[in-house]
Amino acid sequence: MSERTLVLIKPDGVARGLVGEILARIERKGLKLVALELRTTERAVAETHYAEHEGKGFYAGLLDFITGGPLVAAVVEGPRAIAAFRQLAGGTDPVEKAATGSIRGDFGLETQFNLVHGSDSPESAAREIGIWFPNL
Ligand code: PPS
Repeated sequence: MSERTLVLIKPDGVARGLVGEILARIERKGLKLVALELRTTERAVAETHYAEHEGKGFYAGLLDFITGGPLVAAVVEGPRAIAAFRQLAGGTDPVEKAATGSIRGDFGLETQFNLVHGSDSPESAAREIGIWFPNL
């Protein structure tokens, strides 16, 4: 059964010229792009997206970072797309948690600048796709 997930190539990934590399990994895995947009994120969108983290120490910095430059938002589809993309991304901390061979493991050094976001559950995917692509 096919499912959809929201993927963000965060501003660090765009600024470092890694969009093509990251999209290539998604496509090579066999996942399909069903929406793709380069955009600068309004603060309200970022606040809604990261609402569950409000109050955490990293929250304000994360919002500044996500709204600080253009990012690529995408909806990706395929069998077990949520888990498949999280495998491609690697763990949150690019050094301590992400394996070599993953996007974060290969290209990241710091947790804040961890290049990509992927929804973590079917409920999150539905909520996040609704935030970023309300017309999909
Ligand atoms: S938590 O607290 O376990 O729920 O956090 P986690 O799921 O690991 O991460 C949630 C998102 O916050 C980002 N994050 C951070 N940003 C900046 N600095 C620090 N220290 C930090 N820790 C976590 C992390 O990248 C997650 O963002 P997304 O976009 O969901 O990957």
